[in-house]
Formats: sequence, structure tokens, C-alpha cells
Amino acid sequence: MTRFIDVATMADLVAECGLETFLGDLADAIAADFVRWPEFDKSARVASHSEVGVIELMPAADRQRYAFKYVNGHPANTRRGLYTVMAFGVLADVETGWPVLLSELTLATALRTAATSLMAARALARPDARRLALIGNGAQAEFQALAFHAHLGIEEIVAFDVDPAATDKLMRNLAQAAPRLRVRRAASTHEAVRGADIVTTITADKTRATILTPDMIEPGMHLNAVGGDCPGKTELHADVLWGARVFVEYEPQTRIEGDIQQLPADFPVVDLWRVLAGQVEGRQRAEQVTVFDSVGFALEDFSTLRLVAARAEALGLGETIELVPSADDPKDLFRHTRRGRARRALRRAA
Ligand SMILES: NC(=O)c1ccc[n+]([C@@H]2O[C@H](COP(=O)([O-])OP(=O)(O)OC[C@H]3O[C@@H](n4cnc5c(N)ncnc54)[C@H](O)[C@@H]3O)[C@@H](O)[C@H]2O)c1
Repeated sequence: MTRFIDVATMADLVAECGLETFLGDLADAIAADFVRWPEFDKSARVASHSEVGVIELMPAADRQRYAFKYVNGHPANTRRGLYTVMAFGVLADVETGWPVLLSELTLATALRTAATSLMAARALARPDARRLALIGNGAQAEFQALAFHAHLGIEEIVAFDVDPAATDKLMRNLAQAAPRLRVRRAASTHEAVRGADIVTTITADKTRATILTPDMIEPGMHLNAVGGDCPGKTELHADVLWGARVFVEYEPQTRIEGDIQQLPADFPVVDLWRVLAGQVEGRQRAEQVTVFDSVGFALEDFSTLRLVAARAEALGLGETIELVPSADDPKDLFRHTRRGRARRALRRAA
């Protein structure tokens, strides 16, 4: 049987673990997998673009487990009463192909994106970073804020969104979830970014936006650029990248999807996994500007599905469902059609 985790069960699982603890554990799990990067079967995600958004399939595997995520990105969805990003995924056994876990991944994507940002910032931001500018206060924003507050020492957040209601919602949620975190509203990106140690851009717009321009950048900043994650969808002015040391997840994918899509193919970037594995330097000087050009890589979802599977099993959470037929006689698949006929007859008789 396959374990099934729906949204309510994912919420239970995170509550049982503690949201902030889970974010930290997830960052550790992702980092542990990034460090063993060469062991993975990796590929850029398969993206199906339309005028209004994208639907993507994201696979990754090691010798034991295979994972894939279905995820979309539709920035106009919120006007239709839908989330911009929605996802689900599967974890399977490589030896047999058996699907071990079928899980919601909308909540889990927000958690893993925050955990990945945390993992990168731990390696790249100045250790004395205390103030975060958070540009884009939508569905992902609280997760980012909490990860950095709980695990990186961020004490103050200055928030800006073109939609003031999004900032209201962020401030409301954070006041409840993290009462000791100071959260202030800015009237513009420029104002939010002034004096920040870390800047997270996590906006959604299907356009070549320039949320951050060179005049806003101060020495020693770490930029966590999360919302530029699709061809034609960027957040940083190209000159911000030219002035920084830029770190990527999986270079072939980021060249197409990340903010570096604006730059020549030989623009130098650093593999984040090599920094985590101790092979190359991350931040080289306190005054250096670092950029994590985050796009979201399948390995992060692989790590997430594995952690969710382990925690669900330990906590006894999730329904078991017959997602694929059990095989008493593995050459006889046809026998399962008789179950359907029998159930139909029972329904008619009732
Ligand atoms: N890199 C990754 O791994 C990863 C993972 C998940 C989501 N994302 C991306 O993160 C972004 C945010 O996702 P979400 O689910 O929070 O979306 P969302 O639609 O819920 O929120 C986006 C917010 O950005 C605001 N915004 C748009 N343009 C802006 C601007 N110019 N200045 C300030 N604010 C602006 C919107 O008003 C909205 O409140 C999306 O672009 C999504 O594709 C990336």
C-alpha cells in the first residue's frame, strides 16, 4: 500500500514536529543530500509554458529512492481565488518502482523553499546578519521569515509588497507565530532594503521585473532571490548580478530559469553544493555581495519527500491507499476489472 498525505495531514505532521523545528530539520536534510550531490540522477525540470503560467515536472533519484513533483506557477491565480504555486509529489522505491508515498506538496514546497533559502544563507550571509528585507509578502513569505528568524538570528523584518493587504496578512501571521520578531512595513522596496543585511525577493509576476536595482545594494548584503524562476520572469537588474558572487542550485536549469538568464552563458556562477561540501569558498569577504539565484531544484523535493515519509511513519500519520493494484497473481492484472464489476453490481442492488 502507498502512504497518502493530504494537506490536513501535512499540517498535522508539521504541528507535531513544531513548524520551526521542521524547517531546521528540513534545511539539514536538504544540505545532507546536497553534500552527496554526485550520487544523484539529476535533470532540469520539464516545463510546459502557457501565456499565463507554467506547469512543471521535477524528478530526482539516488540508488534507493526516486521522487518527482508536479508544480505550477501562475502569478494571476490569486485573482481567481487560487494559490500561485500548487504541488503534489511521489516518492518511489528504485528497486521495484513501487510508490511509497503520495503527498501534497503545496505547503511542503513553501517549507522546502524556505529551508533551502536558510541553507544557502547559513553558508553565504554574514554571520552577524540581523535585519531582513522581505519583498513580496504572498503565500511563501511567512515560511521564509520564520526560517530566518528561528535559525539565522534575524530579529527584524522590513516588509514590502505592491499589495498592502499582503503585508497586512504577513504582519498578522507573524505577530501570532513569532511574537519576538519585529516586523515593520516599508512604503517601497527602496525603503525596505535600506540597511538590510539580507534581502529576500519572493514576488510573483510573469515579467522581467527589476525589483532590486544597483543603487539599492549595500556592501556585504546577501540577496536571496527566489521569485525569478522561469524564462522571462526575473527580479534583479542585471548589474546587481554583475556586482556580486552568484550561487546556483543546478546550473543547467538556473541558466534558463534564474535571474542569470539575463547574462551571457559564461557568466561565472558557483555551485551551492560545492560550498556546502567544503570544495569552494562561499562568501569571501565581509563586504562582498552574495546572491543565491534560487529557482527550486528537484533534489530539494526529494529530500522533503524522504523526510515527510520518515516522520509520517514514525508518527503514524497518513492514510494507506491502494494507488497501484496489489498483485496476488502478478501476471493477472485483468482480475482487478472483476472488482469493479462486482462493486457496480452491489451498488445497483442497494
Ligand atoms: N525558487 C523557488 O524554489 C520557488 C519556490 C516557490 C515559489 N517560488 C516563486 O516565489 C514567488 C512567490 O510565490 P508565492 O507563492 O508567494 O506567490 P504569491 O502570488 O502568493 O505572492 C507574490 C507576491 O508578490 C507581490 N508582488 C508582485 N510584484 C511585486 C513587486 N514588483 N514588488 C513587490 N511585491 C510584488 C504580489 O503582490 C504578491 O503578494 C513566485 O514567483 C514563485 O514562482 C520560487
